[in-house]
Amino acid sequence: MKAKIIIPLILISLSLFSCSKLKEEIIAPPTTLKLTYKDDIKAILDQHCVSCHNPTSTTFDLSTYFGIIQSGIAIPGDPNSKIITVTQPNGSMREYLGTDASLKADKIKKWVVEDSLALGAIKIHPSDWAQVGSENSHAKFIRKTSWNLDQCKQCHGRNYNGGISKSPCYVCHNAPGGPEACNTCHGNLLNSAPPRDLNNNFSTSSPGVGAHQVHVVGGNFSLGFDCNECHIKPDSLRSPGHLPIDVNDTTLSRAEVEFQPSSLSRNSTPSGTGDSLVPNPNYSYDQLTCSNTYCHGYFKNGNLNNTPKWNVVDGTQSACGTCHGLPPGGSHPSVSYTSCASFCHNDVVELFEGRLRIKDRTKHVNGKLSLFGTEKDFSVRQKDKIVGLKLK
Ligand code: HEC
Ligand code: HEC
Ligand code: HEC
Ligand code: HEC
Ligand code: HEC
Ligand code: HEC
Repeated sequence: MKAKIIIPLILISLSLFSCSKLKEEIIAPPTTLKLTYKDDIKAILDQHCVSCHNPTSTTFDLSTYFGIIQSGIAIPGDPNSKIITVTQPNGSMREYLGTDASLKADKIKKWVVEDSLALGAIKIHPSDWAQVGSENSHAKFIRKTSWNLDQCKQCHGRNYNGGISKSPCYVCHNAPGGPEACNTCHGNLLNSAPPRDLNNNFSTSSPGVGAHQVHVVGGNFSLGFDCNECHIKPDSLRSPGHLPIDVNDTTLSRAEVEFQPSSLSRNSTPSGTGDSLVPNPNYSYDQLTCSNTYCHGYFKNGNLNNTPKWNVVDGTQSACGTCHGLPPGGSHPSVSYTSCASFCHNDVVELFEGRLRIKDRTKHVNGKLSLFGTEKDFSVRQKDKIVGLKLK
């Protein structure tokens, strides 16, 4: 009688034991297991991050794999990547991870640092076909083949909608225009200027990145400038002069800087009878400096020899006094520091805690001299009218 009960008990406990062992293995998989975007990370980001970081966001887009790469917040192998620091304890985005925050944050960390942002299975192409930095990546492949996207359209469809491959490029390149959008190869969610640059650099000390954003977005001193202020801006991917003719030039580090005369005549030839000073802007690829630019002081009584360095973005080169004196020297009336704000240029500058600051950035570095509330085109202004003023 006893034996009859004991045997099943042994059997039950044996099976319970193996069951819990199995369960343990499922819950704690071997640490060598590679985490991938498709299998492990996408669900976390979709659930906790994408409500705010999406294509209409003012930051970046975490709804696609490409968006993550483009954002620069996850650099393969880099433990200091922002996506890690903000999700670890005390990180500014930690609260959004909800329950099991540690588990999720650690997955993100492992995925970035150990698994180098692995994407997950792709059948027909090489497994690292979407891996940043890999020689086999489709980005590199497309470059090496002169950005011939027709070869992809064969299978992925004329409009990149998937075609016979049933795999739309829009899964990752979700901007209008898909892979041909202006921010696919350079730029970010908000504009097409670097970062990211052509070699996936994000730091302003990289020559391809430099001071782009402060020029394009604008700051406290002026509105932003269009690309065509410094480049010939292409209408489309295949516009003449856009892509390099020699694709074997793998460095691709020299986008042409060609200053354009703008509608505001910032850097154009003065057409009137006023100054003989003609800005002749130049960019030195060796020194990474700009010289003779109207914007940085090449105008009458400005700091003609000012040569700002493109990849130094710490505020020192946009300090008051770097482009022109306060007041300017030369033939400018010698007035007190504060009088610019109280009299002649009071629509542009104001005094704040004893210092001058720009009050209306639409009127500063806009190619026009603002004087007594009216704007004069630099090119046609009459120098006598300015010099002849009696100031004190
Ligand atoms: C409720 C909206 C919201 C959610 C949800 C959210 N974020 Fe953010 N996130 C923001 C805003 C707004 C900013 C920009 C302001 C700031 O830096 O705090 C930001 C900034 C960031 C930054 C940049 C921080 C820096 O120092 O530049 C990172 C990285 C980031 N978020 C990652 C994430 C991740 C990963 C998640 C999901 C776990 C997430 N965010 C969820 C709103 C959100
Ligand atoms: C799974 C996500 C994903 C899909 C799907 C995808 N891409 Fe990409 N693509 C990326 C990533 C990530 C990069 C940036 C990688 C890099 O620079 O190494 C990129 C970069 C590019 C670039 C930039 C090349 C350059 O010179 O920098 C082009 C062009 C491009 N993809 C075309 C395509 C086309 C065409 C398709 C569809 C046939 C496609 N992509 C589908 C993720 C994707
Ligand atoms: C011969 C047909 C064919 C050609 C040509 C082709 N692809 Fe694909 N591609 C496919 C198929 C089929 C898939 C789906 C495979 C899968 O689901 O694993 C795919 C998948 C992809 C993916 C992964 C999508 C994902 O979400 O995992 C990327 C990225 C990609 N292709 C980019 C390109 C690019 C860029 C080109 C041009 C340089 C190109 N493909 C040319 C057939 C092709
Ligand atoms: C398929 C990749 C790709 C796409 C898409 C792309 N660009 Fe470019 N762009 C490049 C490359 C590569 C360079 C560097 C050219 C060189 O080295 O001369 C470049 C350079 C530039 C420059 C610097 C000036 C120059 O021509 O060197 C501007 C401005 C520019 N692109 C604007 C745009 C605009 C606007 C669009 C959308 C209409 C766009 N790009 C789409 C790859 C691309
Ligand atoms: C204030 C002048 C200025 C403006 C405005 C400007 N750029 Fe540039 N751009 C530069 C300089 C300087 C370089 C560095 C030249 C080099 O190293 O090839 C550069 C380089 C580039 C490169 C090459 C990056 C690399 O990896 O080498 C691209 C792409 C580019 N610019 C795109 C743009 C686009 C797109 C816009 C407008 C949204 C824009 N730029 C606006 C001055 C400017
Ligand atoms: C990046 C170069 C640069 C810096 C830095 C700069 N300025 Fe200017 N400033 C200019 C240019 C260029 C003009 C010529 C007029 C124009 O285009 O607006 C100008 C003109 C002026 C004028 C004449 C009114 C006008 O805009 O026509 C005043 C006043 C002035 N700046 C004050 C300041 C003050 C105050 C600061 C510091 C907060 C400052 N500037 C910093 C470039 C600069």
